[in-house]
Amino acid sequence: MILSSLVVLVFGLLVGADQDVYIAGSGALASGWENWSWSSTIDFASTSGPGGVEAISITSDAYAALSLYDETPFANNFAGLRFDISGAQPDVSLYLSSSADSDSSPSIPLASMSTAVTTDSFITITVDFGNLPGSGGVLASDSWDRLNFQAGGNGATYYITNIELLTEIVVTPKFLSAEPLAANVIAVTSQGAVDFSQVTATLNNATVSLTKTATYSPPDTPAQTITYFTLSKSLAPGSLVISADANTTFSYTIPALKYGTINIANTKAISDDIYGVNFPTDANYIELLGVTMSRWGGNAVTAYNPFGQFTNAGNDWYFENRVASPPDADAWSGWVKGAGSKSMVTIPALDWVSKDATSYSYPRTVYPTQAAYDPYNSDAGNGQFPNGSWVAPPPQTNVYSPWNTSLAAQWLTGLTNKPDIVTVDNEIEIAGSTHQDMHPEPMGYDEELQRVVNTATMAKSVLPNVQVAAPSTCAWWFYWTSSIGYTDNAAHNNQDFLPWFLSQMQAASTKAGKRLLDYLDIHYYYAPDTSANDAAAKALRLRMTRSLWDPDYTDESWIGTSVPAQWSEPNPNAVWLIPRMQQLIAQHYPGTKLSISEWSSTADTDITGGLVTVDQLGIYGREGVDSATYWVTPDEKGPVGLAFWLFRGNGTTFGSKSVQVNMADRDEDVLGVYASTSDGKKVTLVLVNKDVNPVNLAISNIPAGTYFVRHFGGAAGVAKWQTTIKIAANSNLVVPAYTAVFLQEQ
Ligand SMILES: *[C@@H]1O[C@H](CO)[C@@H](O)[C@H](O)[C@H]1NC(C)=O
Ligand SMILES: *[C@@H]1O[C@H](CO)[C@@H](O)[C@H](O)[C@H]1NC(C)=O
Ligand SMILES: *[C@@H]1O[C@H](CO)[C@@H](O)[C@H](O)[C@H]1NC(C)=O
Ligand SMILES: *[C@@H]1O[C@H](CO)[C@@H](O)[C@H](O)[C@H]1NC(C)=O
Ligand SMILES: *[C@@H]1O[C@H](CO)[C@@H](O)[C@H](O)[C@H]1NC(C)=O
Ligand SMILES: *[C@@H]1O[C@H](CO)[C@@H](O)[C@H](O)[C@H]1NC(C)=O
Repeated sequence: MILSSLVVLVFGLLVGADQDVYIAGSGALASGWENWSWSSTIDFASTSGPGGVEAISITSDAYAALSLYDETPFANNFAGLRFDISGAQPDVSLYLSSSADSDSSPSIPLASMSTAVTTDSFITITVDFGNLPGSGGVLASDSWDRLNFQAGGNGATYYITNIELLTEIVVTPKFLSAEPLAANVIAVTSQGAVDFSQVTATLNNATVSLTKTATYSPPDTPAQTITYFTLSKSLAPGSLVISADANTTFSYTIPALKYGTINIANTKAISDDIYGVNFPTDANYIELLGVTMSRWGGNAVTAYNPFGQFTNAGNDWYFENRVASPPDADAWSGWVKGAGSKSMVTIPALDWVSKDATSYSYPRTVYPTQAAYDPYNSDAGNGQFPNGSWVAPPPQTNVYSPWNTSLAAQWLTGLTNKPDIVTVDNEIEIAGSTHQDMHPEPMGYDEELQRVVNTATMAKSVLPNVQVAAPSTCAWWFYWTSSIGYTDNAAHNNQDFLPWFLSQMQAASTKAGKRLLDYLDIHYYYAPDTSANDAAAKALRLRMTRSLWDPDYTDESWIGTSVPAQWSEPNPNAVWLIPRMQQLIAQHYPGTKLSISEWSSTADTDITGGLVTVDQLGIYGREGVDSATYWVTPDEKGPVGLAFWLFRGNGTTFGSKSVQVNMADRDEDVLGVYASTSDGKKVTLVLVNKDVNPVNLAISNIPAGTYFVRHFGGAAGVAKWQTTIKIAANSNLVVPAYTAVFLQEQ
């Protein structure tokens, strides 16, 4: 503690213009700063922390915050923030906000700054606004005037002191990584002004000379640069040692070659619409990630009232009405289409939508013994007794106004910006819990079909060119059985739900004289439990993409072990998702396309989540999925966002036709190889190494030439880079551990 105070003091003297936010020992905030905290117990002069040092003690309820407001906006006048913190690794995140325009910076978890926060002592944390922890991004320009330390869902207790805005951050020059790439490239990541003249390499004990070819500094994450060197000799199995400076060496074992081939004569169309997300943030996001399909979806859109722009997230948030965000589906379709994406909009299809922005279904005053109440509105309950059973819902008119297909038709007719695809509500089969207040009865096969037919008929009559996607079923269980249970299967000739639904939609379309269902739409969330996020869970996460296509992959979840006798699915322990759905379509309603409008990597902030996303986008292309949108909005600088960027980012696109790949040394648990072409001549490859060691590929038929390369992952963590390299005929391609590479023939 004494040491860190000393450092603050010396630093302050050197640069002269740092600004104290909180001065330990004064028992108060610095002059000009105000306490704008909420739902927290705060003592600004506590000495009960480690060493008796005076500090702010905070106990925040769920999502509450220590919030400090500067009467004079500090805006972007500072290079960073420093503070000393103690606590049992509190679940708290830092974000800056602007009271002038209500903007907020990304929320940065304390865990991405340090995982060594303890009750024993204070540790000093420095946040560089030019290299934000986790993302490496730059703090945007804004009228920042608030610092917020916000607790997570279980609240947080900790001490904080010596909070100071810094005018300067001194970046220590450092080599962060140096990794083998492709046939003969070394990719060196560094921060600050390092000296490249000392970089040398040996391959199997023989020195190989290095030629520095390019340096790249990503415009949105400039803190880490990458410098590419070409080796005088191709990478080969054995030992590679790269010495960056006197103190920094990186060593690798390049493994034996894995063989494969591509056949550019054998191609299959890749749908452009598989690179979608839910709710992209803005037009720049669509451009940077190359988003092709944008969905307006999720649990809250069931209650979306387009005439007042209200909504209600149901069981996700205490059944409370609120202003929809974004508010206007029409304007939203307008800008997403203007930015080059298609739009997919959900039409509410229950009997109610939110009537205002403030009502809620389960007031404490009416239902005093509920299990939980909203931390922000202690009168709004979760509609459940402490034993988990539902409270009988109040009349729907307390919170909702009636909704039907005439009102939906009025809305769709009035749209200036017509959606390309409409979906019929969202996970309607579980409305009995998600929207228990609106629709307490379990939804069965017949009711669900009727709602889809009615909504689709209406949509096709008012928007003749629109495509209809349904039933947007949430998960594996409900693909085959309704919320009523097996008696509902029995009542429908023991048919599983989705095949029955397809047949019925075909019959209804025949009767209507037009196709009422264009896309079979499902949601797919992996069933295996990877929440531990340890090495075993990461490996499982990375191999479970096989559930998308592999009939021989027994799902590593309950699906792989238990099969209800009431289901008639073939090979039911393998999810075999895409071919299974395509087969059901071929049998029950040929010509219907396949959409996956919600899916998730299971780890949005972990590099393995990014690698899963690369693998999954590659599989969607190869297996012929027609449309897909990630749930929800991946952080554009996070691993999942980078996976989209890899395939489509900033105007460079993977090919429109999938090229056949045959790997003699198959190892899909740890390796994905995807090839494409647009013109039948030039090749684009995406290689995803899901292993913790480098892989060395010998893939024949890859033409010699100049290739544009992009990659992310690897030893320097989540960062992205690009350059051009030369590839000789039949050369090997090394991909570092936990890295995804895009190679496009120029
Ligand atoms: C700061 O604000 C919090 C939350 O409103 C409040 O509990 C606390 O007493 C305030 N502290 C001071 C010193 O004003
Ligand atoms: C490289 O040198 C080490 C130690 O000098 C030796 O053990 C190893 O066998 C050598 N490797 C090759 C491929 O020559
Ligand atoms: C290597 O480490 C030594 C001892 O810590 C230090 O004096 C020297 O400056 C370092 N060299 C580089 C290039 O960082
Ligand atoms: C749960 O608690 C409520 C209220 O006390 C009660 O009416 C209900 O029967 C209980 N349900 C079960 C399953 O015990
Ligand atoms: C739909 O609801 C509106 C408003 O409540 C009502 O006027 C209309 O008759 C209803 N239409 C149908 C088909 O029920
Ligand atoms: C996108 O590409 C343009 C044109 O090459 C370039 O100027 C810009 O910096 C790129 N943006 C990012 C974030 O990579």
